Amino acid sequence: MPSRGRTQRPPAPRSRRRPVDDGDSVSEAEIAVHWKEEEPVGPPADLAASLGPSERALRARFARLGFPECFRVYADLLTWEQPWTRTLDDSRPPFYRWFVGGRLNASFNCIDRHARRFPDRAAFRFVPEPPDEPVVTVTYRSLQRRVEETASFLRERAGVRMGDRVTIHLPMTPELPVTMLACARIGAVHSVVFAGFSGEACGRRIADSGSRVLVTMDAFWRNGRLLDHRPAAELAIATAAQDGQSVDHVLVWERYPGRYSSRTPPVTGRDALLPDALLEFAGRRVPPEPMPSEAPLFLMYTSGTTGRPKGVQHGTGGYLSYTAGTTRTVLDLHPEDVYWCLADIGWITGHSYIVYGPLALGATSVLYEGVPTFPDSGRPWRIAEALNVNVFHTSPTAIRLLRKLGPAEPERYRFRFRILATVGEPIEPQTWRWYYEAVGKRSAAVVDTWWQTETGGILCSTLPGLDAMKPGSTGPPLPGIDPAILDDRGVEVPDGSGRAGNLVLRTPWPGLMQTIWNDPDRFVSTYFARYNTDPKSRDWRRWPYFSGDGATRTADGYLRILGRIDDVINVAGHRLGTKEIESACLSVPDVAEAAVIPEADEVKGRVPVVYVSLRPGVSDPIRVTRDIADAIETQIGKIAQPKEVWVVPEMPKTRSGKIMRRVLSAISNRRDVGDVTTLADPAVVEEIRRLVQGAGAGPVRSRPSDPPRKRTGPR
Ligand code: WT7
Repeated sequence: MPSRGRTQRPPAPRSRRRPVDDGDSVSEAEIAVHWKEEEPVGPPADLAASLGPSERALRARFARLGFPECFRVYADLLTWEQPWTRTLDDSRPPFYRWFVGGRLNASFNCIDRHARRFPDRAAFRFVPEPPDEPVVTVTYRSLQRRVEETASFLRERAGVRMGDRVTIHLPMTPELPVTMLACARIGAVHSVVFAGFSGEACGRRIADSGSRVLVTMDAFWRNGRLLDHRPAAELAIATAAQDGQSVDHVLVWERYPGRYSSRTPPVTGRDALLPDALLEFAGRRVPPEPMPSEAPLFLMYTSGTTGRPKGVQHGTGGYLSYTAGTTRTVLDLHPEDVYWCLADIGWITGHSYIVYGPLALGATSVLYEGVPTFPDSGRPWRIAEALNVNVFHTSPTAIRLLRKLGPAEPERYRFRFRILATVGEPIEPQTWRWYYEAVGKRSAAVVDTWWQTETGGILCSTLPGLDAMKPGSTGPPLPGIDPAILDDRGVEVPDGSGRAGNLVLRTPWPGLMQTIWNDPDRFVSTYFARYNTDPKSRDWRRWPYFSGDGATRTADGYLRILGRIDDVINVAGHRLGTKEIESACLSVPDVAEAAVIPEADEVKGRVPVVYVSLRPGVSDPIRVTRDIADAIETQIGKIAQPKEVWVVPEMPKTRSGKIMRRVLSAISNRRDVGDVTTLADPAVVEEIRRLVQGAGAGPVRSRPSDPPRKRTGPR
C-alpha cells in the first residue's frame, strides 16, 4: 500500500487465540503442491505497447492519492445520483462505510446509462447449451425493458419492498441477471443460490435470509439433459417452512416461454409463470431507486468453519466501485470488448465479473448455459471464435479438464484473446503454460486473480501488459491493497524467507463485505478476532482481515497462495465446508462418527473424502455408504459428492477423544502420517492405511467422472 510507510504499522499484535495443533483439522495449505519458483514471463509486447498513459500511471495515481482517497478512482467510474461527501467512515472498525452520503442505483449504473448512449450494443450474448439453439443477444435497451418489467412485477404482484430479500435459484440464462438487476432497481436485496445446490440447501438459505419470494425456472440444460428444476423449489419451500420461513410468491421463469417444461405443476395463487405473467406490465417504467451507498445490494452464502453457511453481505457503492474498478484494471475491459467468464453467476465470480463489473463498464458479457465440455472439448473455442471473445476468464479446474480432453483443440479455431484470467484455486505451472501457449497463443496476458466471496473483488493479480507474469503465483497486490503474511503469533513472515503463513489484509477496501447477514458477531470473530489485540480499538490498523488462506511471498512481492488453512475445501474452485459435509453424513442413523478431509485431485485440485465409523451392529455397510452419498446430495448438492467413502472400524483419536483428521488426510494423500504413538489406539492407523492404500498396493484412484467409490472395511 503505497500511501503508508511501513513505520506506521502498529507493533505486531499477539494473538489471543493461539491455535493448538492437535491434528483436529487439516488444511489445504498443508497438502499444497510445492512447485518450485518459476521464472517470470514478460508481459506480451503488443499489449504492453497498447497501454495508454493513464493505465501506466495507475499505481502512481493511487500512491499520490493515498489511503483511503485512492479508491475515488474506482468510484469515479460510476454515475452517482448524489455525490458522496466522505470516502471512508472508519469510526467503527471492522464495520466500514464507503462513499458516505452518496446515493446511486446499481441497475442504473449497469444498464440505463449505457442504454442511452448505445442502446443496440449487446449487454449479454446468451449461448444455450444445445449447440443447435441460436445465440440470443440481449441489448442494453432490451435489458432495461426486461429489468423494468420484472421489477414492476416484483413490486406490484409479489409485494417486494426496499430492503426485502429475494432468493433466486436460477441457472445460467439471461433471466438470472435480469432478476438480480430488477431487485437492485427497487432496492431489494438479492440472494442468488447456485442452481447446482439442492432444494434443501436453497431452503436453508431462504430461511436464513428471511425471503418471502423465490425466483426459479422450470428446467435448464446441463450436459445434454434438460433437468427439471421445479422439484428443487418445492423442497426449498418445505425446508424453509420447517425453519419457520414461509414463501408467499414463487416466480417461475420458463426456459422456453409458453412451453412449461416441468412435471411439477404450478401452485395456484402462489406461483406465477414468467415471462407470460409480465405481459400486463409490458413497457412499464420503473425508475431506479437512488440507494444510499451503504445499502446492502446482495447476500451470497458461503461455507465456513461451521455447518451453517453464512450470508456474506455486500453493499452498493463500495462493492460496485470496486468491481467496476478491478474489471477495468485487471481484465482491462472496455465497452468494445466481448468478454466471457465461464463461472456460474451463482458464485461470487459471476456476480462480480459476469454481471456487475462488466455491465458497469458497458461491455458485452457472454452467458453460457451449460458445461464447457458439451458436446466436446472444442466447444469453448468454437464459442470464442463465433462471438469474437477477446477477454476470457475461467478456473484452473476448467483449464485442466479442457487440456486433458482436447490439448490441441484451441489450435483449430481462429480466436484471439487479449487477456486470459484464472480464478478460484492455485494454478500449477504446467497448466498455466498450456493456458498461456495453447489458449493465449503467447500473445495474451494471463492474470491469476486471488480473492474471495468476502472480498467482493480481486485483491492480488498482475496488471496485464504492465507486470511480468509468474506461473503459479497470483502476483502482487492490486493498487490500494495491503497484504501481509503473519505467523501464528502475529509476527510478519519476511518476504523471500520461503516460509508460509496466514494471509491477512491490513487495510480495508471498498469491496470488503459489510457483515454476515444477521450475525455481526460472527463477522467479527471469523475475520478479525484472529489478529485483533484490542476489541475496543477504533483504529483500523488493529483490525487486519484474516483471509483463511496460507501463502508465501517472494522478495519481489509476488504472492503464492497455498490454499485454505481452515475447515474449508476448495473443490474445482467452489467452496465447501467440511463441517457441512460431516453433518450430512451424521444425519444417516447408522453413522456414529464422520470426518471429511481434502484429497489432492488431478483435475479438481481438491476433492472431499469421507471417513465414517458406524454404530455397533450395522449389517450392511455398503448400504450406509449409499445413504451417505444420498444425504450429501440432497442436503448440499452434487458438487459436494465425495470421491470416496471409507467405512473404518474406528477413527484415529487423541487420548482426549478428538478425531485426528490430519492422520486421515495423510493416508488419503499418501503422505507420511507422522508420529502417532500418542494416539489412543495407534494400531488403528495402520489398519486404516491398509484399507485405503491396500497392503503395499499402488494408489487407488477413481476418475473424477466416476460415481463416488464406496469402500467398506472389515468390522
Ligand atoms: C478461496 C475463495 C474468488 C472467487 C472464487 C472463489 C481460493 C481463489 C485463487 C487463486 C489460489 C485461490 C482461496 C480463497 N482462491 N482464487 N487465484 N489462487 N487460490 O471464491 O468460493 O470465496 O473461495 O478460493 O483459497 O480463499 P470463494
